[in-house]
Amino acid sequence: MTMNQPSLTERPAWQALATHFEQIEPLHLRQLFADDSQRAERLSVEAEGIYFDYSKHRITTETIDLLLQLAEECGLRERIDALFRGEKINITENRAVLHVALRAPREQAIDVDGADVVPAVHGVLDKMAGFANRVREGEWTGYTGRRIRNVVNIGIGGSDLGPVLAYEALRHYSRRDMTFRFVSNVDGTDFAEATQDLDPAETLFIVASKTFTTQETMTNARSAREWTLRTLGDEAAVAKHFVAVSTNAPEVTRFGIDPANMFIFWDWVGGRYSMSSAIGLSTMIAIGPDNFRAMLAGFHAMDEHFRTAPFERNLPVLMGLLTVWYADFFGAETVAVLPYDQYLKRFPAYLQQLTMESNGKSVTLDGRRVSYETSPIYWGEPGTNGQHSFYQLIHQGTKLIPCDFLGFSQSLNPLGEHHTLLMANLFAQSEALAFGKPAAEVRAEGTADWLVPHRTFEGNRPSTTLLADQLTPEMLGKLVALYEHSVYTQGVIWNVNPFDQWGVELGKVLASRIIPELQSSDEPELRHDGSTNALIRRYRERRGAAM
Ligand code: F6P
Repeated sequence: MTMNQPSLTERPAWQALATHFEQIEPLHLRQLFADDSQRAERLSVEAEGIYFDYSKHRITTETIDLLLQLAEECGLRERIDALFRGEKINITENRAVLHVALRAPREQAIDVDGADVVPAVHGVLDKMAGFANRVREGEWTGYTGRRIRNVVNIGIGGSDLGPVLAYEALRHYSRRDMTFRFVSNVDGTDFAEATQDLDPAETLFIVASKTFTTQETMTNARSAREWTLRTLGDEAAVAKHFVAVSTNAPEVTRFGIDPANMFIFWDWVGGRYSMSSAIGLSTMIAIGPDNFRAMLAGFHAMDEHFRTAPFERNLPVLMGLLTVWYADFFGAETVAVLPYDQYLKRFPAYLQQLTMESNGKSVTLDGRRVSYETSPIYWGEPGTNGQHSFYQLIHQGTKLIPCDFLGFSQSLNPLGEHHTLLMANLFAQSEALAFGKPAAEVRAEGTADWLVPHRTFEGNRPSTTLLADQLTPEMLGKLVALYEHSVYTQGVIWNVNPFDQWGVELGKVLASRIIPELQSSDEPELRHDGSTNALIRRYRERRGAAM
């Protein structure tokens, strides 16, 4: 299916796009809108409660036709089907990739190696719901009999960013009489600050790790156990204050967590695709099982949209293809994600792992070096904060930065005119980026000639606007699934494997070599490069130095 494909750049649609780009590049969005009064209608789609306006992109309908043709030539339809069929599309790890099974309804059947996985998925969801309800209702108590008031999720990467995103995004729906914290960094400061005002007798730790061997997570988990036992004294307290979310039962048991308090998932769930698995246990405790299931329903609705909608009205497909258009033809190196909703403040951070750990690859599935750009860098901040920080560069800098604006028609916290002002800013920013302010207009306002270039806005800076009614659990699921499938679409076009992450390995191996060199009381024999040797020596000399 994927091996020995023709090189992407040799495909007819790619070559047509390269020629077409020469025609599009000089065109200005001002002209494109002036030439077509129906442009906004023509280049927007509504699906699953999301109004997806891509009219402020440097494209014509021909661009979209060619991108869709490219998708066909790259076999996107077949590759989507392969994903949903549970084929082992993660070829470098010989694994199926079935995050879509995590949100499949009970009655659906999805086979992996000949066995239907959906009953097991719902078995875990039911177990999570039972546990979450007991914690929420005060039935699950700590070792001293006090109710649990604090939940601390210990995990990193996908075992942290999904839970953090979901908690922050759905805070409106969360238990306000409970405290939720997230510890990820191996820097002791993270653990110390997260726990400094918590009472161990009222604190539950969720150790979330797919492998249960991740150095940062296991170090934090051990510190959490010491912190708990320092106060509670008895090893038996661990069973009441620690639960695990993992695929690795032997390691969970070795750590001392009762397997009965383990919530499993499977190797066909990638870390950065695990938000809808048991990794969401902290989310479920925070927002309750019903809201969690509503979030899963949102994921599933977008999964179905991706699987069934014609490509020209398929949001993840359009989003993915536009990303390819800018990365490969305009040479855009980044994408800014700009949520106009404070609850989505961690969405850019979440998307960084999802997008860049997935498609930050430079070899194709058949092991050849790519001759084109792959994943752009994703970054962003909630509006309007970004406006008073980095938007200057997006408006007037030398870089082309396609932007995703996200907003909601209804605020969860209506407060005077706040929401009107917020949304006015969103609409104004995409308008200013697209249309700019020509020099003639600046001059006509009486601006001194020497100042005109400084106050001119070129415009022609592209953006997508995603507008939904309200940030509900269901909508969060849809938005995350939208980006997940957009990432898959990009990966299919680039012919890379979005589901492995070999690029994180080397640093881990080298760190494990350096740890004993830092720990050793004797002067270790260092065999690194000159720079690394010097840094290690200096650290060893200075770490005990008086402040
Ligand atoms: O090192 C990268 C990574 O493997 C991510 O892909 C993953 O989300 C993270 O580490 C955490 O892994 P685990 O859940 O196994 O602790």
